[in-house]
Amino acid sequence: MSTTGSPPAAADPLVAALSDIVGDDHVLTDAALTAAYETDWTRRWSGRARCVVRPADTDQTAVVVRACVEHDAAVLAQGGNTGLVGGGVPRGGEVVVSTGRLTGLDPVDTVAGQVTAGAGVTIAALHDHAAAAGFAYGVDLGARDSATVGGTIATAAGGVRVVRYGSTRAQVMGVEAVLPDGSVISRLDGLVKDNVGYDLPALLTGSEGTLGIVTRARLRLHPRPAHRVAALLAVGSVAEALEVFTALRAAVDELAAVELITHEGIELVVEHAGGTRPFDEPHPVCLLVEVTGRDDPTDALAAAVADLPVVRDAAVAADPPARARLWRLREGHTEAISAVGPPPHKLDVSVPLPALPELAARAPEVVAALDTTARVVLFGHVGDGNLHVNIIGPNPDDDRVDRAVFELVAELGGSISAEHGIGVHKLAYVGLGRDAADRAAMRRIKDALDPDGRFNPGVLFED
Ligand code: FAD
Ligand code: MLT
Ligand code: ZN
Repeated sequence: MSTTGSPPAAADPLVAALSDIVGDDHVLTDAALTAAYETDWTRRWSGRARCVVRPADTDQTAVVVRACVEHDAAVLAQGGNTGLVGGGVPRGGEVVVSTGRLTGLDPVDTVAGQVTAGAGVTIAALHDHAAAAGFAYGVDLGARDSATVGGTIATAAGGVRVVRYGSTRAQVMGVEAVLPDGSVISRLDGLVKDNVGYDLPALLTGSEGTLGIVTRARLRLHPRPAHRVAALLAVGSVAEALEVFTALRAAVDELAAVELITHEGIELVVEHAGGTRPFDEPHPVCLLVEVTGRDDPTDALAAAVADLPVVRDAAVAADPPARARLWRLREGHTEAISAVGPPPHKLDVSVPLPALPELAARAPEVVAALDTTARVVLFGHVGDGNLHVNIIGPNPDDDRVDRAVFELVAELGGSISAEHGIGVHKLAYVGLGRDAADRAAMRRIKDALDPDGRFNPGVLFED
């Protein structure tokens, strides 16, 4: 299968075949047009595509894949290109199949509380569509304006609502997808109970484009909360943040988000991403919590917080602009950390909840032991035991700090990828999270569905 050494675009018979399928306008070969598809969000990974093809629907996607099989070409699926592990951009010579035109959205099925969405629908568009029918989609993340239904399924994205609704895995009722041989599986009926054999939609969820290209999905929706209140709670440490989380979980009915940020992170956001300092005094750690309900939960939240002596200060936001100001402090982290200099080391890890304070204390120590000048910024999803360990300073290609943090995470019984996936970034560390038998079983699944290694070569598996 060819990934490099493709013929010049004008003479490339595959490009001609793809143009016949989707139309000339939807096969991009000009470097000025393909560039946006060739470098990832972090600027750390990039490679040339043989071409970018933008099919209009599932049938065209299947025919595109069959043409790639015929011409023995590698195929890479791409949604919003917001992935953070380098899995969504070419390594060199792949046909990039963009889902940018797969933006169909069926009317919300208000009886089932479900919707069928095209893979290229953005998460923001899905939220708006669900809200107009009185529903909410359970996954939300800072990249909502670009990240797509297909990309979030392929990465099993988490985000800020996992503590309330679960990750993308919990929202996927079914998918339609094109497999590496060009065949189509379609399970979009939304049956709540359906035990006919293997759960292929679940297998594709989190498969990072290595087993199929998702073209449509049937998604679970939730009743839209009538009221929402956010509060930023200042505490002294990650251990105290955990204490606050466990207390609030018991005290309020609908805890919809529990996000951790630190003083250093807030300062970076204020400096690089346009946030406003929330308190007169700096505090080491802050928890951004959001509570929803049929009735206004503000009083219940205030009463619960008043019972927590570890909370040193609090800023409550009930109206949308005030909530947005608090969320900016949290969601501005990715942008602010990337603005400091060369691409940071972005380590997205999880540990059992009781080990979270130890991870937060020891991660900066293991990094400092290797590089005393490195800056470590911690933030993340406390309710999920998920910390984002961002390391600014060491050369992006020097992975000694990555290994040190991943080994610490393994020692604490955690996962080296909580939500972003393996991509190309974490290939060398999969063995820290999965034993040999487990890896061999995953490999056999890959080989069975994609014997030529055509889909997303170099992602998830080292080959
Ligand atoms: P892409 O980046 O285009 O692709 C990601 C992977 O999915 C690649 O391997 C690609 O080949 C594959 N893929 C894409 N579309 C398909 C498809 N239709 N079928 C099969 N495979 C496909 N992630 C979280 O989990 N939680 C967060 O809170 C979060 N916050 C973020 C905030 C910011 C500011 C940014 C930049 C990123 C964040 N991310 C987060 C990471 C990213 O948004 C997610 O991984 C998201 O799911 C990627 O979606 P995408 O459409 O951009 O996919
Ligand atoms: C987040 O929680 O903001 C994301 O996972 C993105 C990141 O880790 O930068
Ligand atoms: Zn995250």
